[in-house]
Amino acid sequence: MSTQTEDGEMNQLTHNGTGFPFFSEDTSVEVVNLRMGGSVNPRLKQVMTCLIQHLHAFIKEIELTQEEWELGIDFVTRTGQLCSEERQEFILLSDVLGISMLVDAVNNRHPFGATESTVFGPFHVEGAPHLEMGANISLDAKGEKCLFEGRVIDIEGNPIEGAVIDVWCDNAAGYYDVQQPELQPKWNNRGVFITGADGLYSFYGIKPVSYPIPNDGPVGQLLEKLDRHPYRPAHIHFRVAAKGYRKLITHIFTADSLYIDSDAVFGVKKSLITPFKKCDRSDAVWSAKYNFVLAS
Ligand code: BEZ
Ligand code: FE
Repeated sequence: MSTQTEDGEMNQLTHNGTGFPFFSEDTSVEVVNLRMGGSVNPRLKQVMTCLIQHLHAFIKEIELTQEEWELGIDFVTRTGQLCSEERQEFILLSDVLGISMLVDAVNNRHPFGATESTVFGPFHVEGAPHLEMGANISLDAKGEKCLFEGRVIDIEGNPIEGAVIDVWCDNAAGYYDVQQPELQPKWNNRGVFITGADGLYSFYGIKPVSYPIPNDGPVGQLLEKLDRHPYRPAHIHFRVAAKGYRKLITHIFTADSLYIDSDAVFGVKKSLITPFKKCDRSDAVWSAKYNFVLAS
């Protein structure tokens, strides 16, 4: 391979004898990808080849400056430095860039009729207490009490017995219990329920409120620079699992929430927006009904 310079000299772009090109703007993708050895896992080879192609194309298209590259390295460094057992700033970055929801969309092309999935988020905690149907998960006596009820069913509408429903939600101030271990009771607004033969579930909680995702780190700074707010519309999380069915990770969003059209992590789907109705019960202010339809 050779090219001509402005003064007419020929530039040899390949190593004599080896056939491998030298690195240049034109050959960058080829040079990097050809460096992979012969024993690379085929899927890793496919992923890395495509990633290099797109990254190099991005740099060439926007003509990334040296200063921008340094800024980028600094941003990624600070993102990593903030990660710990309690905080996953990279997942947050993936969330605000729409990557988490895109990966979810590509991997959860459910059959028509199944409940849609959405982002898992960083606040699920394994091991929440198993509760009887009708229990109250709100332990801090704050917020507007809400009765949640519905069924876990299959695509044909048959009840699913033994479905494990894991629920988590922020409190009335917009914080998960794990964000305020000194202020909130352990397992506040969390619980696990198992359906009987009728597939029914019911529990009390609070009407969810909107809250900002953690925004005191590099991801928060990025949102600010992009003139974006960090809020999620009011929602409650569900993980529903049953033997023989696809595990479902989803939310119910309140229909009247602020930010329903501008979720910081793009998690809202029309089918998950639920009307929360004022109810005339003596033990709750609101009620929300939602059936979870699992794909087999
Ligand atoms: C959440 O809903 O808990 C959440 C999701 C993504 C980022 C931050 C929080
Ligand atoms: Fe949440």
